[in-house]
Amino acid sequence: MDLQLATEYPPPNEAEHIESLIRHLRAKMERDYAKTRMLRDAHPKMHGCVRGEFRILPDLPQELRVGLFKQSGVYPVWVRFSNQNGTVTPDSKPDIRGVALKLMGVEGEELVQGGPDEKTHDFILISDSRFVTKDVAEFDGLVTSLTGGQVQLIWYFLTHLRVLRNLLWSLRRFSNPLAIRYFSVAPYLFGKKAVKYSLTPRDPIEIPAPKNPSENFLREAMVSQLGSSDAVFDFAVQFQIDPYKMPIEDPGITWDESLSPFRKVASLTIPKQVFDTPDRREFGDNLSFNPWRCLPEHRPLGGISRARRIVYQALSQFRHENNQISPKEPAA
Ligand code: HEM
Repeated sequence: MDLQLATEYPPPNEAEHIESLIRHLRAKMERDYAKTRMLRDAHPKMHGCVRGEFRILPDLPQELRVGLFKQSGVYPVWVRFSNQNGTVTPDSKPDIRGVALKLMGVEGEELVQGGPDEKTHDFILISDSRFVTKDVAEFDGLVTSLTGGQVQLIWYFLTHLRVLRNLLWSLRRFSNPLAIRYFSVAPYLFGKKAVKYSLTPRDPIEIPAPKNPSENFLREAMVSQLGSSDAVFDFAVQFQIDPYKMPIEDPGITWDESLSPFRKVASLTIPKQVFDTPDRREFGDNLSFNPWRCLPEHRPLGGISRARRIVYQALSQFRHENNQISPKEPAA
């Protein structure tokens, strides 16, 4: 098949795998949170939900002035740092770490629509440059095998060696969530082109890994850094320039930065602050992020994101209903 840039190629049976994913993940949440407040299915453990400023750089060249990045300006943002593991575990366990940004005051009609006065725009990134699986079928197979017993799981990995490699590679230890480089992994439209996103700490403060780490040492590292100094990140986009080496339908492949380097379009400043309070924890837990909560110029691309559109909405709704909370997007 001849592949084109910024073009999607949905495989048959994707919808069935999305349904199956929702069924399995819902059942897991019901089991895990039968007696307690329901947390997210993925990334349930939050290190901190902090406020910041997302600044679109002035004087961007014409090809970078697209959608949200058309005009320079500053958006207030909530930033939620998390561990990926489906259960809340000590931070010393190797894991994928996540960061989710919710910009406020963004004008324009988002793809996921809330009420008329909801003006939020989300970006979701993780600590690795590739996803574990290539598509929804492979991810559904992994989720099914994880709940199907040891023999099934070993067979799945023996027949999906790249998933095993990507998974082992991405499960890592870190000492400070504010010093990690994050990637969108999944591609997004950027006007008529396709890009991936990255968020790179500027002058990261590497806090040495504690000798006897407490369960929540990543939160403690954030409290320590933000108690005395700001954290600044560069937000950048990487253009797809080759549809084979930089595929849209396989987020399990890193787009080579020597082929197409990331280009800065914005900065994220998290000012010095006190954030670790019970109210803020509850606020962060009750937020919902969705890669589809974005302007149409930045629509997510590829099968994993087509699945996320349905899965995130269904499971966030399920979580909020269980907790008897009506979800509401925050305002600036
Ligand atoms: C089919 C594949 C995927 C499924 C089924 C899935 C599922 C989920 C679910 C159910 C949530 C919780 C949603 C909520 O209750 O509000 C979530 C959160 C999250 N996911 Fe995914 N995910 C997938 C792919 C990805 C990818 C490719 C990334 C890479 C950036 C990612 C990063 C995250 C992060 C960082 C969060 C936490 C957001 C927050 O702080 O609330 N996920 N995911």
